[in-house]
Order: sequence, then structure tokens, then C-alpha cells
Amino acid sequence: MNPFVVIGYRGADAFCDRETETETLIKNLKNGRNTCIISPRRLGKTALIHHVFNSLKGWTCVYVDLNLCNNLSDFLKSLASALANVPGTNRFSFIELLTSLKFQVELDALTGQYSVGFNLVKPGDNRKSVSELLKIIAKQRNVVIALDEFQQILSFKDEQAEGWLRAEAQQHNTIRFIYSGSQQRVLHEMFGSSKRPFYHSAELMSLKCIPKALYIPFIVNLFKKGKKNITYDVAGFIYDYCLGFTAYIQLLCNHLYDEKNAVIKEDSALSTIGNLLKQYEPFYLKLKKPLTDIQFRVLLAVAKLKKVYAITGNEFMRSAGITNPSSANKAVSALLNYDLIYTDTDERGNEFYSIDDVLFLRWLERQSA
Ligand SMILES: Nc1ncnc2c1ncn2[C@@H]1O[C@H](COP(=O)(O)OP(=O)(O)OP(=O)(O)O)[C@@H](O)[C@H]1O
Ligand SMILES: [Mg+2]
Repeated sequence: MNPFVVIGYRGADAFCDRETETETLIKNLKNGRNTCIISPRRLGKTALIHHVFNSLKGWTCVYVDLNLCNNLSDFLKSLASALANVPGTNRFSFIELLTSLKFQVELDALTGQYSVGFNLVKPGDNRKSVSELLKIIAKQRNVVIALDEFQQILSFKDEQAEGWLRAEAQQHNTIRFIYSGSQQRVLHEMFGSSKRPFYHSAELMSLKCIPKALYIPFIVNLFKKGKKNITYDVAGFIYDYCLGFTAYIQLLCNHLYDEKNAVIKEDSALSTIGNLLKQYEPFYLKLKKPLTDIQFRVLLAVAKLKKVYAITGNEFMRSAGITNPSSANKAVSALLNYDLIYTDTDERGNEFYSIDDVLFLRWLERQSA
């Protein structure tokens, strides 16, 4: 099997580094502290959570993905499904409890996962049902619930879901929580503002790129194990091309591993990149379609400079071919709304703008070349 995982988590052997982060997360759990993992998209938050769960012995680990949750009813369903699928034998007692609470639990023979429906649960009782589930979970000795893409609760139409959930979490102080998400500004505000319910309720972990010096040997060794050969230089080239973003490094290595050549050279990497960009081009053209000329020029300038600290600064404005600072500000706001760029702060606390879809960024670079 291709050792470069591109979907999900497949165990410690296919997982690169994150030792310090794993240790910190486990220490936090064991000392009764919650953690909120924040990073740009595709850096490895979800895989890190699964890696921590995989490393924890004697804990009940519940993973809830809020990505597709739009309301408390979806959240209830995701929480119940997460319980029905907890790793280990605890799963069966949870399934029994869910059934006694009138949830419908069914095994999907294709995926081996349990799916949970609740057409037997009274509609409108979502809060009560979530409370009941949390009460059941809290009876476990060592238990952690990961709420991935946590910022999604802000879009719940149900009133004050944020405050209500905080009160629930506080009530069950035997449950540890790992929150995680990629909307950095929103999460910083949720956990860092004294006016918000989750204020200071978790340690913040800002996930950064895996260091190049650790990723290169990981890549070289996985190729070697498959009796293939890639030099440190070519692995370094892939890391740099992907700007250190885990998902894209994994994707390129996955494709290169699939090549017939036993020795991977830089020209193979270049042709793989070319093929991927060609494959994604129709999608990128769709992203470009709604943009005005100025917005697209600003996007090209962000791609060119990679990190932009001053949107009204000379270098950026010149690069975008703009003279009016308010046009630059407006275009950046529009691009943020389209989710084509994101903002983050660097190690010194300075805010910058960038593009987290690395292949899109590289495609944009080609458009201005
Ligand atoms: N440390 C790692 N070693 C190897 N592969 C990893 C590592 N971390 C993540 N990956 C892989 O990179 C890809 C992206 O990781 P993941 O989905 O965890 O990122 P994410 O930050 O949760 O992304 P998103 O913001 O889109 O939810 C996945 O295919 C995952 O398997
Ligand atoms: Mg994720």
C-alpha cells in the first residue's frame, strides 16, 4: 500500500513527527486541561487528533467532526455517531445505551462504521439529548471528546449554542475536550475574548508546519522501505514547493511513489506537479470566475509574495498594479469572504495574509508568469 496517506490517519508509521504537539496534548489531557488546536487548513490538525487518540492507552476517545453540522440536531447526530464508533470495546456499551435512548444504530457493511439516526427521538429535544449523552460519557474514567472544526457551532441557528455548550462542558468536568479548527481569527476570539463563553477554557496550540529537517528523512525512509529511491535534495524540493504544507507534501509524495521509476528525480516531481495542476485547472478557473479584475490582480500578488504583511504597502500595491489603498483593502476583504486567502499571525505576533491552498497558489503564480 502507498505509505503516503492522503486521507485520514493510518497509524504511527505513516505519521511524521508532531512529537512535541502529541506530548503537549497528552500532558494537557492527563492534567485536566483542555486544548484548542488552531492552524491554517490542511496542516494536519485532524490527523494529529487521531494520532493522539492512537497513542492514548486506557482512554475513551470520542471524535466529533462538526464540519457538516449546521444546527444542534446535526451536532446530536454527530456526537451519537462518534459514540457508536469509539475505538475499542467501549463501543458496544455505548451502542446499547444509544439504543435504549431510542437512537437507531445501524452498521454500514461497506465502511464498517455505525451510523446513527434518531427518528425515534422527539424532535426539539436536541439540547436534552446532548446533555444525556454527555452525562453518559462523563461516567467513563478517562474520557476525551475532540470537537473538530469547532467554530462551526457559531453558525448553528439554535440560539446561544456557544454559551449553552460551554455550560454543559463545565458541568461535566471529568470530560476533557480538544477543540480544533482552521478559522483562526474566529477561534482566537472565542477562546481569547473575556466576553465570550469559552474564554480561557482551553490552552491554545498554534500548529505550524512540520520542520523540513524532520520531514525530509521521513520521506526518504518511506521511499526506501518500498525499495524506491529519492534523494534528500528532491525531498527538500517537494517540501519547499509545497511551502511545508503537510497535505500537499503527502499528495505529491503519494503520486511520486506510484511512479514506475525506482529512482525519483526532480524532473519526475516537476511532471507530477504539472499533471496535478492541469487536473485541477477547471476547478481553479471556477474560483477565479466571480472575481473582478482588481480582486484577481490582488490574488496574484498574494500568490507572488506568499505572505503579505502590509496590504497598503508599496511592494504589494505595486505588485498588484494598484495605486489606491482603499481598493487594496476592499479587494482583500472580498478575497477573505471568498475564502481564497486567509490571515494568520507569525511567531512575532505580526498579522499576514496568504493562500493556504498551495497548488492553487502555484497555479496562480503560473498565470502571472
Ligand atoms: N504528521 C503527518 N504525517 C503524515 N501525514 C500527515 C500528517 N499530518 C497530516 N497528514 C496528512 O495530511 C493531510 C491533511 O491532514 P489533516 O486533514 O489532518 O489536516 P487538517 O489541518 O485537519 O485540514 P483541514 O483544515 O482541511 O481540516 C491528510 O491526508 C493527513 O493524512
Ligand atoms: Mg481537519
